[in-house]
Amino acid sequence: MGDIPKVDLSIHHRPQGFSDRIAFGFTKALRFCADTFFAKRYGHRAIVLETVAAVPGMVGATINHLKCLRRMCDDRNWIRTLMEEAENERMHLMTFIKVAQPTVFERLVILGVQWVFYLAFFALYLVSAKTAHRVVGYFEEEAVISYTMYLKELDEGRSPNVAAPDIAKHYWKLRQEATLRDVVLVVRADEAHHRDVNHGFADELSGAADPDAVIAPYPDHADDIRMAA
Ligand SMILES: [Fe+2]
Ligand SMILES: [Fe+2]
Repeated sequence: MGDIPKVDLSIHHRPQGFSDRIAFGFTKALRFCADTFFAKRYGHRAIVLETVAAVPGMVGATINHLKCLRRMCDDRNWIRTLMEEAENERMHLMTFIKVAQPTVFERLVILGVQWVFYLAFFALYLVSAKTAHRVVGYFEEEAVISYTMYLKELDEGRSPNVAAPDIAKHYWKLRQEATLRDVVLVVRADEAHHRDVNHGFADELSGAADPDAVIAPYPDHADDIRMAA
């Protein structure tokens, strides 16, 4: 089993300028909706929100791919990074679906939200890719907070710390006896990495890239995810 990277929970990008404030306000509004809807049902919350979290990477990859084709320019590895992010978020979903089952109502919410969020995020990315990446950076900050709360729930015995699903043990190369707690730790580390990457992309697009910016280490993932299905 590889080491689970430590996560710096204090990281927060202070909104600077109009676009950051819009991104931050939008994220906080969605956080309020999620908190109201799910309360402490963290397994269900993870499933529904991971279906949303897997969208931006694919949108960003598509739009950057098309831009590079039109301009015949290099993508600075953004496309693969974003596609990998989408795949990683989908693996979060495939993992949590082994832990909890969404209700029929939640499945309907997922359908509706996917239509609205995909189209809205696509439009936002076309209008301002910088704001779109900032939104994802803030989403990921919230994801780190939510998974930290999930850990507390497990540690204090309010949710059972069941065995890690096989798919998770394969994908994150966890030890055989790994538990849900180990899974939440590696998922949170993934989210922290996405947080820093997306804030970094937003900084780069605003011409204010910080050469000393630290990116949270990414946990080790299996190359062949078919084995995990
Ligand atoms: Fe995720
Ligand atoms: Fe994420």
